[in-house]
Amino acid sequence: MAKLAIIGGTGLTSLKNLEIINREVVHTPYGEPSGPLTRGAIGGKEVLFLARHGYGHTIPPHKVNYRANIWALNEAGADHIIAVNAVGGIRADMTPGCIVFPHQIIDYTWSRTNTYFEEGLTHVTHIDFTEPYCTALRQMLIDGARIIGLDAVEEGVYATTQGPRLETSAEIDRLERDGCDLVGMTGMPEASLARELDICYACCAVVANMGAGRGEGAITMEDIEQNLTNGMDRVRTLLELVAPQV
Ligand code: HPA
Repeated sequence: MAKLAIIGGTGLTSLKNLEIINREVVHTPYGEPSGPLTRGAIGGKEVLFLARHGYGHTIPPHKVNYRANIWALNEAGADHIIAVNAVGGIRADMTPGCIVFPHQIIDYTWSRTNTYFEEGLTHVTHIDFTEPYCTALRQMLIDGARIIGLDAVEEGVYATTQGPRLETSAEIDRLERDGCDLVGMTGMPEASLARELDICYACCAVVANMGAGRGEGAITMEDIEQNLTNGMDRVRTLLELVAPQV
């Protein structure tokens, strides 16, 4: 039977609707993950949960140990991961509070450790990443959102920036010219590390704000937090429906 893990991002450090079974501190050859793995059940399905930024939300995007997180979940048996990520909207229909299931990603990050394939190799490995997200799991999220009538955008190109600062308005314009629809700081290398371990991985992004220069005035943490509170409640409802189907 498939084993599902959920990685919660900003605004989702816990799952209110998760019945917790236990918490497990794990160590990996790549260092410590962001926190203990929470084992629990959602909608009757056993799942693993990990808060990407730590349970107290203290680890910034560029300091997340992505390798340890994905390794720990894989070691715990996860073969499917739904990643929840807070993002900024670039395309006009990606407004605050809306949920997006990206189908593509462009990686603008730098200096993040981004592979398991670098030491002790018997041969050089290049994973196929033409389609960065698992089609079947993405489709389950899309179908689930349709069933519960969620205000969701069913595709988009996710630009992953280095952070932790937000972008300039010129950078957002450039990302748009590159074909990006949404921007966040945590999409990579998480997605490619999951692919390296052959884990079926899909992203559920929640728009926290319009990208720099696309909304009114400066982007404030208060606005981001408020939009995420609403959006994440809807994500929890979606996960309750989708998790048992995985
Ligand atoms: N840019 C990058 N990352 C983000 C944003 C943004 O506007 N909002 C939430 N995460």
